[in-house]
Amino acid sequence: MTKYIDGKKIAAEIKAELAVKVKLLKQKNIFLSLAVILVGDNSASKIYIKKKSEACQEIGVNSETYVLKSDISIEKLNALINHLNDRKDINGILVQLPLPKHISENQVIEMISAEKDVDAFCAVNTGKLMIGNYKFLPCTPAGIIEILRHEKIEISGKRCVIVGRSNIVGKPTAMLLLQNDGTITVCHRKTKNLKEICLNADILISAVGQAGFINKDMVKKGVVVIDVGINRDSNGKLCGDVCFEQVAKLASHITPVPGGVGPMTIAMLLKNTIKAACLQNQILRV
Ligand code: GUN
Repeated sequence: MTKYIDGKKIAAEIKAELAVKVKLLKQKNIFLSLAVILVGDNSASKIYIKKKSEACQEIGVNSETYVLKSDISIEKLNALINHLNDRKDINGILVQLPLPKHISENQVIEMISAEKDVDAFCAVNTGKLMIGNYKFLPCTPAGIIEILRHEKIEISGKRCVIVGRSNIVGKPTAMLLLQNDGTITVCHRKTKNLKEICLNADILISAVGQAGFINKDMVKKGVVVIDVGINRDSNGKLCGDVCFEQVAKLASHITPVPGGVGPMTIAMLLKNTIKAACLQNQILRV
């Protein structure tokens, strides 16, 4: 029997626990706030940031959304981020990616203070992840690990194949799975024998961003499939990278899109915001 993993349900459980922590912090006069910056009018990004602010509201975290014109100068963006870095009442800052072409994502990510970088994208937080001495984990990789933990799927000794090598998903997910004693292969557009490598996977994670990329001929029976892709199919319907119906027949566990990894990413963002607030207020535990 295939287990369809309900990311929305797992995320709801986590959010309920986080809401309790937010309440306890309020009793200590600590009121949490997340600043969300959107540059331009990417329609998918607009949906994501709306979901992020709704999730904040759900658990009692204030959120401030800044929507900036796509032709904003890097200097103006820098001035806003510096202002938010300095504000004591802002615990976390995120700039929704992707950014317009004239703005360097790496440059913008480095503008955010490491203590408020709740995406854990900056060089300091990435380096801390690399050596296993981190305060924040990047949200999607952390969400994937939480799903595996929740489903009691052992990572240790498993062959984990990640398709996609982005800084925000592929690479940090590889690092986290490695720290959990998985044996990792990261595939990308130049990878040869992709099908054979995927067929060998015990845990297959796809973060490619292409509908229908992983089909039934690329997976073995009993595989755990985590689909990070968020795409539109030819009918405009939301879908992942995986041919869901056919792959689900072979998988032991599979995440749907929507309702799989997406809600977990948001839950992990909330977790990081609470962690940031605790660290900023020298609170070790809530
Ligand atoms: N774009 C796609 N995923 C993410 C994410 O987790 N954080 C930010 N800031 N941008 C994204």
